[in-house]
Amino acid sequence: MTTPGAAPADKATAAYDTSDPAYLKIRDLIYQISGIYQSQEKLYLLISRCERRMSAVNAKTASEYLEHLTVRGNRDTELRLLLNEITIGETYMFRSPFQLEALRNVILPQMIEAKSKLGFKRIRFWSAGCSTGEEPYTLAMLLVEESEKLLKGWSFDIFATDLNDRSLETAKAGIYGAYALRNTTEQLRNKYFKPIDDKRLQVTQQLKSLIRFDRVNLSDDSKMVFLKGIDIIFCCNVLIYFDLASKRRVVQHFYSNLLPNGYLFLGHAESLYQVEDTFRLVHFAGTTAYWKPPAGYIGGGKP
Ligand SMILES: C[S@@+](CC[C@H](N)C(=O)[O-])C[C@H]1O[C@@H](n2cnc3c(N)ncnc32)[C@H](O)[C@@H]1O
Repeated sequence: MTTPGAAPADKATAAYDTSDPAYLKIRDLIYQISGIYQSQEKLYLLISRCERRMSAVNAKTASEYLEHLTVRGNRDTELRLLLNEITIGETYMFRSPFQLEALRNVILPQMIEAKSKLGFKRIRFWSAGCSTGEEPYTLAMLLVEESEKLLKGWSFDIFATDLNDRSLETAKAGIYGAYALRNTTEQLRNKYFKPIDDKRLQVTQQLKSLIRFDRVNLSDDSKMVFLKGIDIIFCCNVLIYFDLASKRRVVQHFYSNLLPNGYLFLGHAESLYQVEDTFRLVHFAGTTAYWKPPAGYIGGGKP
């Protein structure tokens, strides 16, 4: 989550009462539900987001707003609306070209070879924390581009999830402007987007049909245990806002969600160092990924 337009911390902190115990309780509630932890220095951001919802529900104080989140009849809806304010996702198409190269040049060829032996011709992707959809649409473009080459005769699907309802609505609409498309070549823009006005383009139905968008809270164990049979997970720039305990829980779920030989990609500033050691770190040109070894695998070499 980014904080566009956020004021410098010292100035902003001074404007908010970060010692109000009701805000600390709201911070703990957010953590419990979503795994997102706001440190003391970032508490002013949470307060500014709460203030938007407080004026929407006409709550005069933080403790009155806490009541909306905990005891009132519509508390689940209010919590969801507050989460929508807190989780604003910075993203754009083709954000991580090295990951895409690793996928195209190494991972997919390996996977195709291994799966062909078993008679499976399907590859399943999950973009976990997809924000407004740029990551899954990027994947969809890569896969369609490969569908007459590397992936000829194969089927693939992309499951794309986020916690933020508003981001998911934007993702489903698939309408993007210059910022989202700044790394997308002219050729791909012409092939996979249609202009809807002089500033915005909309993804084609072909790309949309490859992606299933859904709301999944990565900290919701009851949902995470049912997501199985995934080959490749992209969970980029999501877990940086989680503390160690909630990160560990999510990553353990990812391990069970993946099929043997599956891969997990994280954002380039993220790692599983001291988080989880059942995955094997694999190096590719300009990037790394985490590999789930098959049962009984021993050895420290490359997959
Ligand atoms: C910075 S965006 C990353 C978007 C994309 N993966 C990328 O790297 O370009 C982080 C996203 O994680 C989502 N997120 C944060 N906590 C989450 C949670 N507990 N469950 C699901 N999504 C979450 C946010 O709503 C936000 O859309």
